Amino acid sequence: MRGLLNNSGFTVWFTGLPGAGKTTLAKSLEREIKQQGFPVELFDGDEMRRHLTKGLGFTREDREENVRRIAYVAGIVTRLGGVAIVAAISPYANSRQAARDEIGNFVEVFVRCPLSVCAERDPKGLYAKAHRGEIMHFTGVSDPYEDPRKPEVIVDTNQDFPQQSLEKIVGHLHSNYLLPQLSRW
Ligand code: ADX
Repeated sequence: MRGLLNNSGFTVWFTGLPGAGKTTLAKSLEREIKQQGFPVELFDGDEMRRHLTKGLGFTREDREENVRRIAYVAGIVTRLGGVAIVAAISPYANSRQAARDEIGNFVEVFVRCPLSVCAERDPKGLYAKAHRGEIMHFTGVSDPYEDPRKPEVIVDTNQDFPQQSLEKIVGHLHSNYLLPQLSRW
């Protein structure tokens, strides 16, 4: 396994509405970093909620606790010199700021997509359920999402192809010397 530049780990934190494309992009970034030979771990909200944060719901308090626990493990991976990738709605700016403060080497990626487009995509059928009133506190419908004010990277998934978004993120990691420049990029 290769070490990162200066053996310095970092966290890439994907935030955005349900259906914006966080998981898809996080997985493709994970694949890319693995291919480059660096240690990487993906923490996906849906997956975490089956293990690390099992039992938590979607009140503000529970979402904050969810994000706090994910940030804790991402911080460990980062301190060990690996890359932690997080994909979680993480709707509250305060929680994301707390994660940033705790982790230090933190790259916030705002996966931006208009609510109407996310609701139309509705990959899990949850927007439809929320609109029918079958799910309460659903982000974007009956629960808030606070846009990041100064994310390191913004990707527009309703305009760009996934590969373009990935290139934008990897480009940022290169220009900030978090990943070494590779000739094929
Ligand atoms: S977070 O707000 O606490 O960061 P997280 O990313 O872990 O959320 O989990 C979101 C996932 O939970 C969604 O992808 C969706 O599949 C599921 N989910 C179930 N209920 C809700 C809800 N009320 N609001 C948002 N997501 C929900």
